[in-house]
Amino acid sequence: MKSDNIIIAVDGPAASGKGTLSRRLASFYGLAYLDTGSLYRGVGWVMLSRGLSPRDVEDAEATAKAFTLEQLDGADIRTPDVGRAASVVAALPEVRDALLEFQRSFAASPPNGLKGAVLDGRDIGTVVCPDATVKLFIDAAVEVRAERRWKELNERDSSVSYEQVLEDIKRRDKRDSTREAAPMKAAQDAHLIDTSMLDIDAAFTAVRREIDKALMKSAMEGQPTA
Ligand code: DC
Repeated sequence: MKSDNIIIAVDGPAASGKGTLSRRLASFYGLAYLDTGSLYRGVGWVMLSRGLSPRDVEDAEATAKAFTLEQLDGADIRTPDVGRAASVVAALPEVRDALLEFQRSFAASPPNGLKGAVLDGRDIGTVVCPDATVKLFIDAAVEVRAERRWKELNERDSSVSYEQVLEDIKRRDKRDSTREAAPMKAAQDAHLIDTSMLDIDAAFTAVRREIDKALMKSAMEGQPTA
């Protein structure tokens, strides 16, 4: 990684607000953005669309090794089925290894010559970019997250109930945080932000405060001493 690259690592569970915040941060600070969940969703989607089982380790590894973002052109990866398949393949170390290099090289050489990147996911601060300039862990109460996701899904499919979404999120939280390979957890040096009571503008102000402090610190550390 270039030493003056700015890397903002944003981790947290489903529907915590990390995606919206990350996109906004990338545009505010002029950085590239990678939604790493879309890689796991992409592998899950390719497998489902080919009639493969996401639990089949060999098929999952081969799909992840051959995966490119171009394969997702026009694909709907935001459905509950794809979310479940993503969570299953994300627990396989073979799949995680296959996707790690892509994420690290995105951070090391962001597209379009940008001076850094925002990556969001579950293990960015702990595994993918342990030397990130600043690490955030975005969380919210599970009921609040389920309500947000339910409202989102309801715009497309009114047959999904709040209770189903809540159960689904609880199951995915459990699978993502208890798996052995790179479980979802806050890095020791991450700033924890709970968005349960915050709207997006308030959450953005809170994370900017942490980021500006970290950027100032990293600029001071980079300055020659007298
Ligand atoms: O953030 P999301 O809901 O799009 O993520 C889809 C799945 O991928 C989720 O179950 C967790 C997993 N994931 C992961 O294990 N590591 C990441 N860096 C990003 C997502």
